[in-house]
Amino acid sequence: MALVNYVEAMTDEKDWYITNLSNVAACLWEQLPDVSWVGFYLMNDTVGADNGAERELILGPFQGKVACTHIKLGRGVCGVSAAENKTLIVPDVSQFAGYIACDSEAKSEIVVPLCDKDGKVIGVLDIDSNTMNRFSEANEESADLEKCAEVIANILQR
Ligand code: SME
Repeated sequence: MALVNYVEAMTDEKDWYITNLSNVAACLWEQLPDVSWVGFYLMNDTVGADNGAERELILGPFQGKVACTHIKLGRGVCGVSAAENKTLIVPDVSQFAGYIACDSEAKSEIVVPLCDKDGKVIGVLDIDSNTMNRFSEANEESADLEKCAEVIANILQR
């Protein structure tokens, strides 16, 4: 079954977004082979956590090791994905300028932006692996993850 089917089945628009995102992180963690971290970074202004600070990503629900809590737009894989509004696949994180290492074991990463109905980035889905080259461009899994991101973005807007 495609991941997006799991995500659709397990989320409920009437639930708190933290509830939905927590279970989505757990589901992707269970379903995806060879991943070391799965989770969300959300734009602080989208979730009412900006406290007047500049726009940045803050850590949301995840599975895996303790991670960095704030990521500035344009910084790290997540911050570049959010700033440029595009999916980034990094086959070897040691080659990514400005990579933010939360876990020294991590080797490759995919980050998929979550966009509102006007196309504005409201967060990202971030997945890491301890295997080099774990994620590939334009394969079934990355297309599936982009569909998951659409479903998740809809939940965040409710
Ligand atoms: N490596 C990410 C930071 C988040 S962790 O992977 C959980 C980045 O460079 O944006």
